[in-house]
Amino acid sequence: MTTPGLLPASALALCLALHARAAPPAAPPSTPALLERGQAAYASHCLRCHGPKGEADGPLAAGLKVKPYNLARYQLQAAFVFGAITEGVPGTPMPSFARLSAEERWAIAYHVEGLGPGK
Ligand code: HEC
Repeated sequence: MTTPGLLPASALALCLALHARAAPPAAPPSTPALLERGQAAYASHCLRCHGPKGEADGPLAAGLKVKPYNLARYQLQAAFVFGAITEGVPGTPMPSFARLSAEERWAIAYHVEGLGPGK
């Protein structure tokens, strides 16, 4: 028995992962609506470790074996954040968020870019 649909889906995921490593897929333009979505998605997916302003002080931070990165200390670029959340950081508590749509990941990436000191 083969499962039609499974191969194309995994091939697509692999393609996206490889593409993200080389150069991120075309970023949607940053708009107020996308930023608003990013703020909400950050609150659901990232705040518990990285804290409300990215200062590595979320409610789970103290209990992690590897401390979360302080997202507010240096000015991060959205493309870097997109790559980090797509791949995660293996061997640390930082998970991959590849299951979120690329648009959602870009929304979060723009929000995180806005947490930096240069914004
Ligand atoms: C379970 C806790 C946890 C969650 C949830 C989490 N992170 Fe992290 N994150 C970490 C830890 C721990 C590190 C530090 C990894 C290391 O030391 O290399 C990290 C590292 C990072 C880095 C730096 C990656 C690098 O290559 O140095 C970025 C950017 C980041 N996280 C963004 C996010 C965003 C955005 C979200 C939400 C989509 C998120 N994280 C969710 C724990 C978390």
